[in-house]
Amino acid sequence: MTDWAKREERRELGFYKKRGLCLVRGEGARVYDSQGNEYVDCIAGHGVASIGHNNRYVKEALAEQANRIITCPESFANDTRTQYLDDLAQVTPEGLDRFYLCNSGTEAVEAALKIAVATTGRTRIISTMRGFHGRTMGALTTTWSCTYRREFAPPFPEVLFVPHGDTEALEDVLDEDTAAVILEGIQGEGGIHVASEEYLRAVHGLCERNGALFIADEIQTGFGRTGKWFFSDHAGVVPDLMCTAKAMAGGLPMGAVAGGRRIENLPSGLHGSTFGGNPLACAAASAALGYMRSRDLPARAREMGDWFINQLREIEHPQIRDIRGRGLMVGVDMRGRVTPYLKKLQEGGILALPAGRTVLRFLPPLTITEAELAQVVQTLKDILGEA
Ligand SMILES: Cc1ncc(COP(=O)(O)O)c(C=O)c1O
Repeated sequence: MTDWAKREERRELGFYKKRGLCLVRGEGARVYDSQGNEYVDCIAGHGVASIGHNNRYVKEALAEQANRIITCPESFANDTRTQYLDDLAQVTPEGLDRFYLCNSGTEAVEAALKIAVATTGRTRIISTMRGFHGRTMGALTTTWSCTYRREFAPPFPEVLFVPHGDTEALEDVLDEDTAAVILEGIQGEGGIHVASEEYLRAVHGLCERNGALFIADEIQTGFGRTGKWFFSDHAGVVPDLMCTAKAMAGGLPMGAVAGGRRIENLPSGLHGSTFGGNPLACAAASAALGYMRSRDLPARAREMGDWFINQLREIEHPQIRDIRGRGLMVGVDMRGRVTPYLKKLQEGGILALPAGRTVLRFLPPLTITEAELAQVVQTLKDILGEA
């Protein structure tokens, strides 16, 4: 543990267990620690740095905006924000073209839940087992794992959990009291479990028939990570509400809810955020989105992801139980706890994340090169060779 990490830990309330390093610089898919060591970054700020670290266009946009105006409440229009909203509507699924801007994933989920209740006049929410939707009280109620929920009484009156991927189980509980069904197309935190396209289409149809809203949580899957702009695009499904955050603004905190045709405009004052849609985040988001579009990063994620998953599948080691994912959202399910592998990967110059107890999760920048991914595969092979 470096001195920086020890000092930081002493000044915090204890929510984060430090991984020893102090990261001081990033460039593309690589980050550097305070001792000058280099790492291939398959954490990317928990899926935030999709366009890579230290992106020139985002830096220039931030500097330009900071020289004009940094903050502007949503009760006034702002040119940068207006332009961003138009840009965003170019990539969201057809018809999802009105937005609420906020500052994080959990805030986007909070807002979507409130919108669902206000729109339908119903209060029951259906979520999925192993699902993760955030840590503020409303979003937390729809998060499955007791690790996150056990200390807190549920603030949402009624949340039911059904198995992810099971249409019949959903059909059994969805009724005229249900305001919304919320789910991730690929469960990230829950272990990289990929929903089938048929399942997404069935969920959408069931919601429509029962007067409930379908909330797609695209916070981790969004902005090209799975090989399309949004995971819902693989199934050709247009959710009623779509939550996004993470990769949106090239590293700056930002989130959004996109609303479709079934969402009418809501009474003013029903919801809001002081920092939501601030010009600085919007300027970064416009630059990040422009970069993703000009380099077709969703296509790149698809191509690189296919290559990476194939290479991982070729390892065929008895310690590997399964390899799952889509695009550059990839999980390697190990027979046993994942923490020792994460530690060894880090020592070997690769940063990766856990997803549950046994899954190694890779969320690299979508700009990562084949050579960098090959380094990840080789390091994992070396570690498994030692095991
Ligand atoms: C699918 C999903 N939903 C919601 C969240 C919460 O986002 P945030 O940490 O920005 O509040 C996350 C974060 O990992 C997530 O992966």
